[in-house]
Amino acid sequence: MISVSELSVTYASGYQALKPVSLQFRRGELTVLLGASGAGKSTLLRCLNGLVAPSAGQVGSAHHPDIVASAETLRDHRRRTGMIFQHHQLIPRRSALQNVLTGRLSFHSPWRTLFPLLAHDLHLALACLNRVGLLAHANARVDRLSGGQQQRVGIARALVSQPEVLIADEPVASLDPAAADSVMDLIKQVCGQDGLTTVVSLHQLALARRIADRIIGIRGGEVVFDGAPRELCEAAVTSIYAGIGEPVSRKPAPSSQPLAEALAHA
Ligand SMILES: Nc1ncnc2c1ncn2[C@@H]1O[C@H](COP(=O)(O)OP(=O)(O)OP(=O)(O)O)[C@@H](O)[C@H]1O
Ligand SMILES: [Mg+2]
Repeated sequence: MISVSELSVTYASGYQALKPVSLQFRRGELTVLLGASGAGKSTLLRCLNGLVAPSAGQVGSAHHPDIVASAETLRDHRRRTGMIFQHHQLIPRRSALQNVLTGRLSFHSPWRTLFPLLAHDLHLALACLNRVGLLAHANARVDRLSGGQQQRVGIARALVSQPEVLIADEPVASLDPAAADSVMDLIKQVCGQDGLTTVVSLHQLALARRIADRIIGIRGGEVVFDGAPRELCEAAVTSIYAGIGEPVSRKPAPSSQPLAEALAHA
């Protein structure tokens, strides 16, 4: 669980990227953040793992009422948080297994890396590669894997820290639609199986509708929609992407909406 209370972010430039917002992200729930470029999705995600400190308000977890209260609370929160990135952030010439093992580094002192691998870490890393369907590629260099496979290595690296929270900023933006579907299915699966509090930003509206338990729409640093995918009606999509109108009430969508798809890809 993560709770955000009256959280706002104003960058040093003076730009307020996030206006005061209070939200709760629940265990085992996959929340998708939707919004046009510059809406504030990454800013919110970075607050959730303490990469951006709130200008006001706070971010709390099941373990810490304020994750940035001290260096120790921040370190502990980050250890419990798995991150998946748009461009994988893998080490290109290293194997899938070596990359996954980097997800264990925060559990050891710098001196530990001078000694042989712990069997525990190795078992965990291989189990995670197996889980994402890449055990047979454990020793393959990641720069020789496909984009979808690389993102699966990224997911395995996030899972090897046995996180409670999973945060992914546009994890499928660089993938073709089939690979994007399959990577998001995998994220959904681990979220449910491990009871992870999962927050993902996406630009693909149809994928968000299919995969999300909950959708949060952000426009200009404000939450303008918060509800289940079936509640994301055409007016709600317009309020998120076209920047008009007030936050809409949570009413079921009356029918399918080609306009909604067009707006999402505009
Ligand atoms: N470090 C920063 N300093 C100043 N302004 C920033 C900084 N980071 C982001 N911004 C601004 O804050 C706003 C929100 O940015 P953010 O990256 O959160 O948007 P986003 O919804 O993730 O967009 P995208 O879909 O393009 O990734 C933007 O106007 C951006 O230019
Ligand atoms: Mg972003």
